Amino acid sequence: MGRVTVQTLAGLKRRGERAVFLTAYDYPTATFADRAGADLLLVGDSAAMTMLGLPNTLGVTLEEMLVFARAVARAARRAFVVGDLPFLSYQPSDEAAIRSAGAFVAAGCDAVKCEGGARIARRVSAMSDAGIAVMGHLGLTPQSLGQLGGYRVQGRTPAALQRIADDARVLEEAGAFAILLEALPPEAAAFVREKVSVPVYGIGAGPLLDGQLVISHDILGTFVGDIAPRFVRRYANLDAAIEAASRAYAEDVRCGRFPGPEHCYGQGAMSNEQWAMSNGQ
Ligand code: KIV
Repeated sequence: MGRVTVQTLAGLKRRGERAVFLTAYDYPTATFADRAGADLLLVGDSAAMTMLGLPNTLGVTLEEMLVFARAVARAARRAFVVGDLPFLSYQPSDEAAIRSAGAFVAAGCDAVKCEGGARIARRVSAMSDAGIAVMGHLGLTPQSLGQLGGYRVQGRTPAALQRIADDARVLEEAGAFAILLEALPPEAAAFVREKVSVPVYGIGAGPLLDGQLVISHDILGTFVGDIAPRFVRRYANLDAAIEAASRAYAEDVRCGRFPGPEHCYGQGAMSNEQWAMSNGQ
């Protein structure tokens, strides 16, 4: 099976096949998701919360994101890897955007993602003109949390929905190869999808799109925090599994049950006398 490319993703959309999109921030998770057949892996700036324990996505730096991106890109054999441009790594200027996006490409990513519509269209054009594949992100855009007033569903009035649809068109014209919609009612998301020809993926935006994104920590049960979005379905309870395994190990160490004889190295060619001598007896 060959690597997923922007052409593969366009082909999936053309055939009406849904793309499978997951976040990953580390080598093992990316390896398992890739083996499971994920089409896209997002090295999301949600790493700030999932991996670093920060309260929102605003505090993660480009340098930190690149560490996660290298690990994921190293693991991906087939999946298309998208690096998420963190807050203030692309907003200040076209040059900043090209340099930051270029750093993700150098780290092994196939594309970058950035948040916003018309107001960042110039940045999207600049990155596209530099030969970099760009995914747009509309709806709930966590890097603008202060302006949005919290994690709120978007596109719930005709004017707000029209703005998102217009933004989607502007991003497509600027060269975006795909658009991600976050936290929209399903019909609103479908309305936006109808306005563009590129693939439109969703997270918390209903089933009527070209693919679904989830945060790996949410489906695996390893997110530590208070945010519990309505759209999350748990597929595993790794939190409980990790805690139980750590507890069992701690008990074995405290009781002297670990390590057992099967975990100890033999003394090799040394006789008991040599062993005693080397111990100064
Ligand atoms: O950083 C991320 O994981 C994201 C998704 C929540 C859309 O941007």
